[in-house]
Amino acid sequence: MQLKNDLLLRAAKGDAVERTPVWLMRQAGRILPEYRAVRASLSGFKELVETPELAAEVTIQPVDILDVDAAIIFSDILVVPEAMGLVYEMQEKRGPWFPSTIRTENDLRKLRVADPQEHLGYVLEAIKITKRALNGRVPLIGFAGAPWTILAYMVEGSGSKTFSAARGMLYTNPKLAHQLLRMITDTTIAYLKAQVKAGANLIQIFDSWAGILPPAHYRAFSLPYISEICDAIRDVPVTVFAKGAFFALEDFSRLNCETIGLDWNMDIRTSRKQVGPNKTLQGNMDPCLLYSSFETIQQETINMLKEFGPQRHIANLGHGVYPDTDPEKVKCFVQTVKEYSSIVNKEG
Ligand code: CP3
Repeated sequence: MQLKNDLLLRAAKGDAVERTPVWLMRQAGRILPEYRAVRASLSGFKELVETPELAAEVTIQPVDILDVDAAIIFSDILVVPEAMGLVYEMQEKRGPWFPSTIRTENDLRKLRVADPQEHLGYVLEAIKITKRALNGRVPLIGFAGAPWTILAYMVEGSGSKTFSAARGMLYTNPKLAHQLLRMITDTTIAYLKAQVKAGANLIQIFDSWAGILPPAHYRAFSLPYISEICDAIRDVPVTVFAKGAFFALEDFSRLNCETIGLDWNMDIRTSRKQVGPNKTLQGNMDPCLLYSSFETIQQETINMLKEFGPQRHIANLGHGVYPDTDPEKVKCFVQTVKEYSSIVNKEG
């Protein structure tokens, strides 16, 4: 189906845009009272993720309410470990928790390379329902975690300040780490291909824990697997968002992907030099800006747009929007991007 608003896809491919597209990581979620209402009627987060009609409903909410230029399918990166055989729980306030973890060769034997149709069919169904309901209004973003970030959760068993068990494995048993990364990568490639087949218009890879690795370990245990995924997904544009990986921006310039996500620690001009002119950059406002006044939000957003320039940029935050953000402040960010970038583009 022809998209009515394809700004995101054109910006990703480096085609000319009449204004900068904008969306927010974690836009589908707790910032919206409408999301909390759907969520409150259920047993928990997982029931929402696993009920395709409801996942589709909360995917579309930010398009209706916040007026963003893309929808991102409501799911989680942790559906992949579960499909491989490692069940997760989402604990209120504490976040994700895995009753069992992967620490030994024996643990690894309990895992399988997942079959997307069989083990992740609920996400694929949610994508199909969302596409039908969106009716071409905006593109739909599919996603997965980068293999390193997924390994970090599978080994650690929960979120962590240090991820010392996961990082430790890279020193104590690199062979096991590579075996696990192999299985995650094979699962992820099949899963992302299935998402594209179901209707995803762009794929984002989240390497949320990139920034905790030393550069040499990042190049050995994360980059090659991300690179393989990029090479495998060539039918739609791919975005790589590796939080904290300022040290890898030059490596990213060589990836077979269209867009690199920047977090708010990354200097925009330095990042542009490192990534080079041939990729689109996405980001990178500090999510805490949205706690400030409307005037400050407008001013800082305009400053950000000036630094990125009017082409090859997708406006976003530098990480997910915080749950206690006022949706009116999000709307201010979105509208400022739309208004300011349209004026600049008209002026040429
Ligand atoms: O709007 C969207 O971005 C789409 C939905 C989405 C969720 N998680 C829903 C969610 C996406 C893209 C993710 C990705 C995700 N999940 C990442 C990568 C992005 C990042 O933030 O770095 C990671 C690391 C996870 C793992 C995860 N899921 C954690 C650590 C937590 C707990 C912390 C938190 O934000 O609450 C989750 C839970 C989660 N995933 C929620 C949502 C809306 C909140 C749970 C709830 O509503 O009860």
